[in-house]
Amino acid sequence: MGRSVWYITTPIYYPSDNLHIGHAYTTVAADALARYHRLRGEEVRFVTGTDEHGQKIQKTAAAAGLDPQTFVDGIVSFIQDPLWKRLGISYDDFIRTTEDRHVRVVQAIFQRLYDQGDIYKGSYTGWYCLPDESFWTESKLVDGKCPDCGRPVERVAQASYFFRMSRYQERIAEHIAAHPEFIQPPSRRNEMLSFIQAGLEDLSISRTGMSWGIPVPGDSEHVIYVWFDALANYITAAGYGQEPQRFARTWPANVHLVGKEIVRFHSVIWPIMLMALGLELPERVFGHGWLLLGDRKIGKSLGNAVDPISLIERYGVDPVRYYLLREVPFGADGTYTEEALVLRTNVDLANDLGNLLSRTTAMVGRFAAGVIPPFRPEHDDGVLAKEAAVCLAQVQTAMDGLEISGAIVAIHRLVGTANKYIEETQPWALARDPAQRPRLDNVLYALAETLRIVSVLLSPFLLETPSRIREQIGVAQPVAALAEAVFGGLAAGTRIRRGDPLFPRIESGHRPEDGGRDRTAPQAPALSAGAQTGPEPASGWIDLADFQKIDLRVGTVRSAETVPGTDRLLKLTVYDGERERTIVSGIRAHYQPEALLGRQVVLVANLRPAKLRGIVSEGMLLAGSSEGLLSLVGPADRLPEGSRIK
Ligand code: MSP
Repeated sequence: MGRSVWYITTPIYYPSDNLHIGHAYTTVAADALARYHRLRGEEVRFVTGTDEHGQKIQKTAAAAGLDPQTFVDGIVSFIQDPLWKRLGISYDDFIRTTEDRHVRVVQAIFQRLYDQGDIYKGSYTGWYCLPDESFWTESKLVDGKCPDCGRPVERVAQASYFFRMSRYQERIAEHIAAHPEFIQPPSRRNEMLSFIQAGLEDLSISRTGMSWGIPVPGDSEHVIYVWFDALANYITAAGYGQEPQRFARTWPANVHLVGKEIVRFHSVIWPIMLMALGLELPERVFGHGWLLLGDRKIGKSLGNAVDPISLIERYGVDPVRYYLLREVPFGADGTYTEEALVLRTNVDLANDLGNLLSRTTAMVGRFAAGVIPPFRPEHDDGVLAKEAAVCLAQVQTAMDGLEISGAIVAIHRLVGTANKYIEETQPWALARDPAQRPRLDNVLYALAETLRIVSVLLSPFLLETPSRIREQIGVAQPVAALAEAVFGGLAAGTRIRRGDPLFPRIESGHRPEDGGRDRTAPQAPALSAGAQTGPEPASGWIDLADFQKIDLRVGTVRSAETVPGTDRLLKLTVYDGERERTIVSGIRAHYQPEALLGRQVVLVANLRPAKLRGIVSEGMLLAGSSEGLLSLVGPADRLPEGSRIK
């Protein structure tokens, strides 16, 4: 093969909307793998990017009143910064399919495959799933809907160029059968084999009647099918056709990491494109499972997206990365809940890891004057040194098999063993007996050394935690190589520097979506902000918990009428997302009833109902007033009724 670069890719995402936690899931996983291989001293190429052409983007841009390029530019810039930047995605290249370097490659391979008879012109009738950008023949539909996602499909009939996939059916089946590692996990491999055995049809790879795509060379009526265009990104980014030397060192890819719904594109269509081009096939296509919300895939077109940035803002980047990488065995589906994220952070990070660090540094402080004591092998029980070696081996095996969560489980187990070791060795008891000094020194050394090793092992997964651990045990240099995760590297005499707890516990009494940082910890933002920013207000401080008792929600006024016999009150019907409520409000002097119809308001949804002029009022509207002026409060942009204000 002669290649020397370890090359990993993510799918290139559609910039049709902001990305959500599902996209972050794949990208953080690829990032962890890339960081791990760099740590092993390999030259890594980690590529992600955006798939910018296609009908869906064209339609979405038009709906937003923008030309497609301007539309995608905005979203792509957000994806790069802040989204991937804040998640610490260490990509080496971000490829956009609208870039010249890519357009040239796609047109060149189209031309070449046409010239050699692998692409021909014909006509197409079939069904198109717009959200998935995929074509289906009648027989593949399930209940008349897209077999992948179950959404409605639209009929298309047009002249089209076809890619002669049928010609390669045998070869691709043989390749899959002969290379068990090619499609992983194995269940996806079996699915693909049966898909191929059912017969491969030639693939329609061009469309007419739309302009947002790469033109077919020499036939500007047609643009190239977005998947044919998108898959080629993997060789564009490796330098195909433009930087032959770099391409030779980089291709084939070691891993294409993708969600399970697009394994077919990557393990059938893409390899056939490569075969037709005479190029080597990627080593592995790994189809991981989905993050689900309830029992549905998190996805923008299903309208239940979870925003990674707001999670980072609430919990910090490392808890979010830890959760994504640890919670679900890589490959399986898993249900996303914020409660589980909070639990993981509290148990694994705040409790197990955080306590190991704070107990160790506290004991080095008390029993060794804050300096890492010497280690004398003849007095050592070998427990932690052995466990650390086992852990390193487990991490390596897991990461080589793309079992990312397995690697983290192994590290967490080492942390657990070290915590148990404190209970077993009881350093405080050893400290009372001067004859036990060498033993005490070794115990303290082994604990601090285990933490240093943990900091090395965690560094592919977490961004800030490894250096925060190292600061406290007095190691100034950042982690540079996996080989440092070997027992004995910590220098005796290093002065520790106790610091803040690694992860403040997120208070369990708080609903996670309300923020939930531990408000009793000294560094908790709410407490210190209040203490530093000014005198206590005349009304006294309230706690967040007090504020959270008030259930504020967005509603829409559906009807409004005056209440007979008063010149102050209006009787409103407000829809709160679940039902219509009657609300009697003293705003008549300021609003004509008809001016309120359709208006969005904020209501106190858990105010005890009260009778006003014989009418039961089920809530209260928020309004601001000053010197005779009054204005109802509402969201600046329309929100779904029932949205919580917090
Ligand atoms: N543009 C195509 C990919 C072309 S690759 C040559 C595409 N884009 S996408 O924006 O829809 O992204 C799909 C990918 O995002 C999935 O394959 C997966 O990697 C990730 N995920 C999106 N939602 C996800 C979940 N709910 N759970 C896990 N991964 C998810 O398809």
